[in-house]
Amino acid sequence: MTEKDFLPGAYQKLPKNGKVTWKAPSNIALVKYWGKKPVQIPANPSISFTLDSCATTTSISFDKKENKDEFSFDLLFEGKPKQDFKPKIQAFLERVEKYLPFLKAYHFTIETSNSFPHSSGIASSASGMAALSLCLMDIESLLDPTIDQTLFHAKASFLARLGSGSACRSIKGSLVQWGAHPNIPNSSDLYGIEYPFDVGPVFEDYCDTILLVHKGQKQVSSTVGHQLMHGHPFAQNRFQQAFSNLDRLKPILASGNLEEFIKLVESEALTLHAMMMTSMPYFILMKPDTLQIINKIWQYREETKTPVCFTLDAGANVHMLYPSSVREKVLAFAREELAVHCENGQYINDQVGEGAIKINDQR
Ligand code: PMV
Repeated sequence: MTEKDFLPGAYQKLPKNGKVTWKAPSNIALVKYWGKKPVQIPANPSISFTLDSCATTTSISFDKKENKDEFSFDLLFEGKPKQDFKPKIQAFLERVEKYLPFLKAYHFTIETSNSFPHSSGIASSASGMAALSLCLMDIESLLDPTIDQTLFHAKASFLARLGSGSACRSIKGSLVQWGAHPNIPNSSDLYGIEYPFDVGPVFEDYCDTILLVHKGQKQVSSTVGHQLMHGHPFAQNRFQQAFSNLDRLKPILASGNLEEFIKLVESEALTLHAMMMTSMPYFILMKPDTLQIINKIWQYREETKTPVCFTLDAGANVHMLYPSSVREKVLAFAREELAVHCENGQYINDQVGEGAIKINDQR
């Protein structure tokens, strides 16, 4: 699909009011997206596991209004008005209006909540933008019943991307690829697709224990980090590497070769952070406890031959990835050895999930 496919069709009569609710999961990238072109076009392709329990639930109530000159919405986060989220939503609505021209015809009450602890340091922008986009698509499909499932999901991903790049990988499960790649059919810079190749059963219920090392605000936002890839001395090599890592991952995912999977995933995580450390200005998002955890994971893997590895997103928290067959012993390891490195001893046990779901239908 091209951008034109996401322009709206003919709307039928606009309903007076209604309510839609969607729950969208977070995701964790195996091959990382870091660096972009306007507008939200990735400098390299990426792939992620869709998570399951880390998710955002969003409801939108919509009421037709008289004045169609501006956007009108209230925002409630975990039941309370949240003024500081409003500019981001306003900017998002402005960006997507071309594709959803009904937006100014309604007053929206947006209610959103996260399953993970408040300010856990887990990025809620991916699940949040995905849930919001799905709600808006749900409203659009009321206005245009010709929208089929394929268009619905692709356009939801397209809209989510315009809110926060990696959010486009939070619509579907369980492995989502985003970014045009010559060897991946139907891959696109505009939206995420379900990974089109064979994936071994070991990855179907792969586990992710998220060790919450630092729950505060990051010193450097992803937006700034992406910008710092412009003129970065290693950017071109890094982008190339991501393309070839997607090629390398194909037989690894098909065969379930965990040794090679671990090498590729950990190398991607450290390369992402190496890009941060070598940009100008340079910065470090890992904390001493991040490194302690990484070293303990390596030692544990070496001593017990358990196929556990780590990955990182743009922060200090560590995602520990492992097959479900070793869940019990890895959870004991997390509890006994790693929890001490987490803020307030907190970590979240998650696993690969099936993608976003519609919660109920209150139209
Ligand atoms: O979606 P953004 O702009 O917050 O960027 C996220 C980038 C990483 O999480 C670091 C990597 C990725 O591919 O998810």
